[in-house]
Amino acid sequence: MSFSIERYKEESRKVDVTGIAWDEVASNPLSKGDLFCLHYMMDIENHVPLYLSHLLVTRACMDPILTAFLACWNYEELWHGENIGRLLNLYGIEFDTQDRIANVRANLGFQNSVSLMSTMAGSWLLKDFSAVYLTIGAINELSTLTGYGALIRKSGHPVLKDLLSRIIKDERRHYAFYYNSAKEWLTANERAQRIDRWMLNRVWVPVGQGVKTQEEVDALAMYLFDDEQGEEDLLELDAKIGKLPGLSGIKLMSKALYAARERVRRDPRWAWRLIDNEGWAIKPPKKSPVGQLTTRKLTEPQEATTS
Ligand SMILES: [Fe+2]
Ligand SMILES: [Fe+2]
Repeated sequence: MSFSIERYKEESRKVDVTGIAWDEVASNPLSKGDLFCLHYMMDIENHVPLYLSHLLVTRACMDPILTAFLACWNYEELWHGENIGRLLNLYGIEFDTQDRIANVRANLGFQNSVSLMSTMAGSWLLKDFSAVYLTIGAINELSTLTGYGALIRKSGHPVLKDLLSRIIKDERRHYAFYYNSAKEWLTANERAQRIDRWMLNRVWVPVGQGVKTQEEVDALAMYLFDDEQGEEDLLELDAKIGKLPGLSGIKLMSKALYAARERVRRDPRWAWRLIDNEGWAIKPPKKSPVGQLTTRKLTEPQEATTS
């Protein structure tokens, strides 16, 4: 798997949606599980700028190749979220994208600042902390494209398949960058390998967790991966990450699936109730109304005046 930053910079653009049959979105049904996953995925795609803010406070951003990648990557991810939102709107689910994004962010509250500061401290105290972030980037991109593949399979929705297949191509390039960068950092660097493995086994969580609750993460995992094909996909994903230096045999996504299954075994309503109850709305934050955070709600549209 090769990656050229020069080629990536030249070729980076927003996902091409030309020819997608948007007018047929509502002609094919999506299940509650499909819709739950689409809301989750849209929210996480839209959360990338905040994830980026974490990357930019690490030592890794001293590397101009990394920052060039992040500049393009952030832009590409924006259009993933936008297009998933467009598909949901065309399916008949009404929401205001900007309100939804602002609410997701406002609900993070103080936790986001703590996480940002601990990332910054960790990065500047441990030289090899970057290896952890690059590996997590690789896992996130690979999980995302695996999840999109699973959703294509589960939904059988032709327009969604067309859109997600185009997004998957971007995710593959992102994965290639993170994987190769992590590999470079970890090769012949036993200390980085030890830190990476230790951190992944203890602090790693599936993509989206933190923004989403454990139950929401489990609902996504159960809907997409709780069958033979899904489990196989996740074992394959772990095996790919296990090829990075020092990570042989590591279990991440498959372990997350087994943990989700265990929680469902103990409480059969767990996770599935979110899907059954169409639990994908985002509540407005209890404190700090969105208007105070963005200022936009304070500006009422002005009527045009002529003199
Ligand atoms: Fe994406
Ligand atoms: Fe991506």
